[in-house]
Amino acid sequence: MKKCMSKETSQLCVISKNPEETFFIGKIIGENLTKGDVLALVGELGTGKTCFTQGVARGLEVPEGFQITSPSFTLINEYPGKIMLYHFDLYRLQDSQDVEDLGYEEYLFGDGISVIEWADKIRHILTEETLCISFKYLDENVREIVISGQEKRIARISNALKSGGF
Ligand SMILES: Nc1ncnc2c1ncn2[C@@H]1O[C@H](COP(=O)(O)OP(=O)(O)O)[C@@H](O)[C@H]1O
Ligand SMILES: [Mg+2]
Repeated sequence: MKKCMSKETSQLCVISKNPEETFFIGKIIGENLTKGDVLALVGELGTGKTCFTQGVARGLEVPEGFQITSPSFTLINEYPGKIMLYHFDLYRLQDSQDVEDLGYEEYLFGDGISVIEWADKIRHILTEETLCISFKYLDENVREIVISGQEKRIARISNALKSGGF
């Protein structure tokens, strides 16, 4: 997570024992987001980034009728919640210019919440306020989730996760 380091940064490590826990961790974080937040998700295929994003959507009160899947042919999907959710999946991104062509500033620097899978591909355009979340495969059903960002945010998320039993 050094990639996302800035001054006054701290980290939080959570172990998820199944997909439901990853979803729930996402939901708790989603409930604690505010306008304009950017979540940079990093981790190999199948480590739970989309599962986590589904939880974030629930935390943001995106109606359950919306299926949050990784977009196949688009880089960004939009979902209405108590704050608008922009879900980026940059897996197929060849060139960061493609994101620039999409007018990413409108999303990243707007009022909605941006959740970006494969965010390491556009690391250079992310700011210090970005909350970085890395996913690591430990076992078939176990993932290590490391959340890093500005100290105050991490403290708040840490408390919320503790209240949720993590
Ligand atoms: N603890 C866990 N957290 C998240 N997913 C898990 C976990 N254990 C097993 N899985 C499985 O791993 C896969 C994660 O898929 P997905 O969320 O699409 O990953 P990614 O978006 O990182 O490619 C799912 O098939 C899910 O059932
Ligand atoms: Mg995914």
